[in-house]
Amino acid sequence: MNRRAVLSTLAASPLLGAITVDGGVSAPVANRTIKPLPFDASKLSGLSERLLTSHHDNNYAGAVKNLLKVEDALASLKPDSPLWSGLKERALQFHNSMTLHEWYFGNLGGDGKQSGALAKALPPTWEQHFRSTALSLAGGSGWVTLGLHTLTGELLIGWSGNHTQALAGTLPLLVLDLYEHAYAIDYGAAAAKYVDAFFSNVNWEVVERRYELAKNSITR
Ligand SMILES: [Fe+2]
Repeated sequence: MNRRAVLSTLAASPLLGAITVDGGVSAPVANRTIKPLPFDASKLSGLSERLLTSHHDNNYAGAVKNLLKVEDALASLKPDSPLWSGLKERALQFHNSMTLHEWYFGNLGGDGKQSGALAKALPPTWEQHFRSTALSLAGGSGWVTLGLHTLTGELLIGWSGNHTQALAGTLPLLVLDLYEHAYAIDYGAAAAKYVDAFFSNVNWEVVERRYELAKNSITR
């Protein structure tokens, strides 16, 4: 699919066209789609429908659309082009943004009541550690993740100042978006209130399923 066809597809439908990863290096992947919010945005507690819809439609969907454009540009690049590093950097940024947003929205829509095997495995101090990490990003941008390290089996809380920093080797279980676009519509600069609202809407059933899947990936 060339660039013009990609843009035509984007304009015609929220479903994006078939593409290959990074200019056809690997086998074709399934159609890239802008996934809908996995919950009724009018039903969350302390996170407004206006905020969630804007976040989804502008920031998340924008990353998916931009990723497709960059991958299309990579597919048409000459092997000795000086543009490779710049486009690959942008592809990394948009791909991680897409993935992190899908994890983030995917762990919302619940009642915030934690139970299960992960709850038993976490130390009592984990939530304060997670909250402190989140507030260290307030006023700026980034992500906080609770993840399982696939080499050591450790449960680790990761800090990321942008889309391209990640704790290597961990599979995210719980993901929190600390970019201001994730809360400013509802809370202005009061990030701590947003973090409270986040915890009251966590879907722990989803997080527990991620934990069960991640444990099967431990290689030690
Ligand atoms: Fe975001």
